[in-house]
Amino acid sequence: MCGIVGILGKDDVAAPIVEALRRLEYRGYDSAGVATIDKGEIARRRAAGKLNVLREKLAREPLAGRAGLGHTRWATHGAPIDENAHPHATDRVSIVHNGIIENFRELRDKLAAKGRNFQSATDSEVIAQLITAYIDEEGASPIDAFRRMLSRIRGAFAIAAIFAGEDDLILAARQGSPLAIGRGDGEMFIGSDAFALAPFTNRVTYLDEGDHAVVTRQGFEVFDSGGAPAQRREIVSSVSDAMVDKDGHRHFMAKEIHEQPEVVGHTLARFVDPTAAALRDFGAGFDFRKLDRLIVSACGTAYYAGLIAKYWFETWARLPVEIDIASELRYRDIPYPKKGGAVFVSQSGETADTLAALREAKAHGQRIGAVVNVAESSIAREADDIFQINAGPEIGVASTKAFTCQLVALASLAIKAGAERGVLSKDDQTALVAALLETPRLIAEALQQEKAIEKIAADLSKARDILYIGRGVSFPIALEGALKLKEISYIHAEGYAAGELKHGPIALIDEHVPVVVVAPSDRHYEKTISNMHEIIARGGRPLLISDKRGIKEAGDVWAAIEAPETHPLLSPLVYAVPVQLLAYFAATAKGTDVDQPRNLAKSVTVE
Ligand code: F6R
Repeated sequence: MCGIVGILGKDDVAAPIVEALRRLEYRGYDSAGVATIDKGEIARRRAAGKLNVLREKLAREPLAGRAGLGHTRWATHGAPIDENAHPHATDRVSIVHNGIIENFRELRDKLAAKGRNFQSATDSEVIAQLITAYIDEEGASPIDAFRRMLSRIRGAFAIAAIFAGEDDLILAARQGSPLAIGRGDGEMFIGSDAFALAPFTNRVTYLDEGDHAVVTRQGFEVFDSGGAPAQRREIVSSVSDAMVDKDGHRHFMAKEIHEQPEVVGHTLARFVDPTAAALRDFGAGFDFRKLDRLIVSACGTAYYAGLIAKYWFETWARLPVEIDIASELRYRDIPYPKKGGAVFVSQSGETADTLAALREAKAHGQRIGAVVNVAESSIAREADDIFQINAGPEIGVASTKAFTCQLVALASLAIKAGAERGVLSKDDQTALVAALLETPRLIAEALQQEKAIEKIAADLSKARDILYIGRGVSFPIALEGALKLKEISYIHAEGYAAGELKHGPIALIDEHVPVVVVAPSDRHYEKTISNMHEIIARGGRPLLISDKRGIKEAGDVWAAIEAPETHPLLSPLVYAVPVQLLAYFAATAKGTDVDQPRNLAKSVTVE
């Protein structure tokens, strides 16, 4: 994954590079580093750990130089230690790399056999060593050596390089990982995304797959995968340079959970006309009447949003949905229908598996819709139809507000499909849109249980294992609740369809295993409550999340969290909140790093 930055500046660049890296920490935070060209030579500072460690190092040991690179790492090959931190360097070149070089072992063995001395356990260092070999052994120029290096490596990458003796040159390449070039006034910038470049410029050009670029302070030239000069459009990026702050909350995650009434409202406004209580004409290019199924795919939390949408498309539009996790879908030999449709869901729009699954579906002639938060992302750029959500920057690694906003977009799309397929009458549509329009208020109501949830979560945080169960649209909420809890509190948690418990997982139940039961008063309520009583009969500790009526009818439980009554199929938009808060407060009770949990990164751009 990792974030990369490069600056050809007018003054010393170490400080602005660190500022840009701060905006890229969502891509990984195992280590960080900066390299510059100082008096013609390569100089570096690197540090394992979060960016602050590097910042402190730079304060003790400042780095001069007007040309430089920066990197924030999510470790793939080699432990997160100083030696493996980027930028990697020889006396000729320094490089930063995002992605994976698949054939690095073979290349490293050959280079090592010729006497090249590797300093790290990473796949990335082979890039610097290959370039150096071409320069030292064959007298290649930096550009020639860089191009020859590109022709030797296989995999997914974004790479940038600076060279000893070259104070006005950055070479950059993109193959599978995003890379943007920002134009300043006599200065040039490169970065993994427009957000990193935003403090410096909004004039941004994205490289296409297979492109490489020669960047100097005066401008840049792009070459396509065949080496021919190529024109790439410069856009005026809408990404704000204001670094989002926590707005008085302890963590970004808390802020983002609390933002949900507002951002769900903003997203609704994109898809729904509140005055007419009708869908806007948001132009989905699918001809829903002709589709005989819809493919939906995503990863993690976004996948659970897709799973909920499956219930919606099937109920409201009688449209069968084939949903799979993107890392599986991309390698399945699917008999794609002729002129079929596929929807990919991604907050970042850069998730490698989702992007690859999208390309696979596209190559098989499917029309591609994308529910994304980041408008300028790769997934947005490669889709035929973009269903953009208005969640705003999501900084906490655990996705919260993007999830509920994705649900708004998907629900609107499912209602549209139902209307076009003649399944939903005008009245049905109006009723569903009216119910959707109530969700910001209901989410705000659900948030009012925060104090009660904090208390319960303090107890929950002592458990070693926790199960989550739900039926129908509450099943994906059980999965999402368990994912949220494990990723930020490190408590082992699993979500199950309530009806599946008796087919195995019930063996886990004893007085030490709390079970979170997601059971709004819908048509599944009684069945789920029966499953809850099976848990109680085995000494288990159920924590029921339901509405007032549901809690009253359930009888004695270990604990209960009240949620507002909702439309039966739209309950996930509201029940997402208590499971997010439970995870959040269990994590704060345990004192974990909520916004940057171990081993994770916000944007997963490797397979
Ligand atoms: C969990 C979480 C992840 C992401 C997943 C997909 O809290 O954030 O599971 O949902 O990595 O990311 P996007 O939506 O950016 O494709």
